[in-house]
Amino acid sequence: MTSIRFFNGHSMPLVGLGTWQSTNPEELEQALDAALEAGYRHIDTANFYRNEKIIGTVLKRWLDSGKIKRKELFIVTKLPPQGMRTEHVPHFLQLSLQNLQLDYIDLYLVHSPLGFHYFTDAQLDDPKLDPNSILDMKTDLESVWTTMEEQPANHQIELHAYFQRPELLKTCKKHNITIVAYAPIGSPGRKEFYETIGLNFKPITLLENPRVLEIALKHSKTPAQIVMKFLVQQDIAVIPKSTNLDRLRQNLDLFSFELTPEEMLQLTALDQGMRPDEHSTLPYFHQTLRTTLKVKKLTRTKLQDFEERNSNFGFTNNTPYRTSINSDTSYP
Ligand SMILES: NC(=O)c1ccc[n+]([C@@H]2O[C@H](COP(=O)([O-])OP(=O)(O)OC[C@H]3O[C@@H](n4cnc5c(N)ncnc54)[C@H](OP(=O)(O)O)[C@@H]3O)[C@@H](O)[C@H]2O)c1
Repeated sequence: MTSIRFFNGHSMPLVGLGTWQSTNPEELEQALDAALEAGYRHIDTANFYRNEKIIGTVLKRWLDSGKIKRKELFIVTKLPPQGMRTEHVPHFLQLSLQNLQLDYIDLYLVHSPLGFHYFTDAQLDDPKLDPNSILDMKTDLESVWTTMEEQPANHQIELHAYFQRPELLKTCKKHNITIVAYAPIGSPGRKEFYETIGLNFKPITLLENPRVLEIALKHSKTPAQIVMKFLVQQDIAVIPKSTNLDRLRQNLDLFSFELTPEEMLQLTALDQGMRPDEHSTLPYFHQTLRTTLKVKKLTRTKLQDFEERNSNFGFTNNTPYRTSINSDTSYP
């Protein structure tokens, strides 16, 4: 199986290309061309990543050339934290559509459960902006999600072998919510991001784990392929970011081998039960929920079912989130 199906019948490819930190136009264009050539059809971006326009240019070229059809693509983007207000939802959605040169988005996610006050990108980039003035503690999640969604179909969360979140997965399964794992190989590039905002980050060493290396050797695969196969084999989609042409091709090759039940157990045993990131005080990056273009009716889900049950996530325990999804009719 190379895709997973939402409750409404729509399918999402199990492997997508992540694009966070991909902002160099030449590098990203080259990576996207290579990814589309290699067979990637699922691309994950966000208004917040500031690369939608680059992606839009490449997609238009591919679509205009007839080498690919729109319906073969699965494009994901996200409502930015500064758009967490009902009146800003259509504005940011339109902006993403314009940037991506598309007339619909396959999956529109709330990027964060906690919003920012409204700022333009230039204001957010202004070093004189007081960091204490950014977060909007009065973010009305319910009204935003009511505007956007109807019933949950997908939850994009940080997930990898060191951080397996079994309780959250169980809850999502119960509600028929599919999962996309971000940072599926442990986000080795996150160090660079934290350094740009003046924070230290101790990278996790998942790809150097002896058990992972041993299994990789057995299958003649890379450690990254093994840790992602571990997720994909559980029907969890992965969106590894790479602008390295060899790595991005390798990352797509997850369907030519199977992990044995014993290997799956060995990898399950690697769970450390915590996000290996000491700066996990950015709750708005943790929870993204599938949303849609039009509202039909809101189906409420039990808040307590969605609470993070991991004490390392104390800050999210009080973050209620509920979600919904649109019906098929909002798809063209
Ligand atoms: N919803 C959210 O709040 C949220 C948050 C974070 C991320 N995301 C999405 O999830 C995507 C993936 O997360 P991520 O970028 O943080 O982490 P990731 O995909 O786990 O790791 C990406 C990093 O690993 C390197 N890499 C890629 N393939 C590799 C391989 N085969 N072997 C060794 N290193 C490899 C990449 O460098 P090279 O480019 O040099 O290969 C990059 O530095 C993001 O790009 C973004 O689209 C969503």
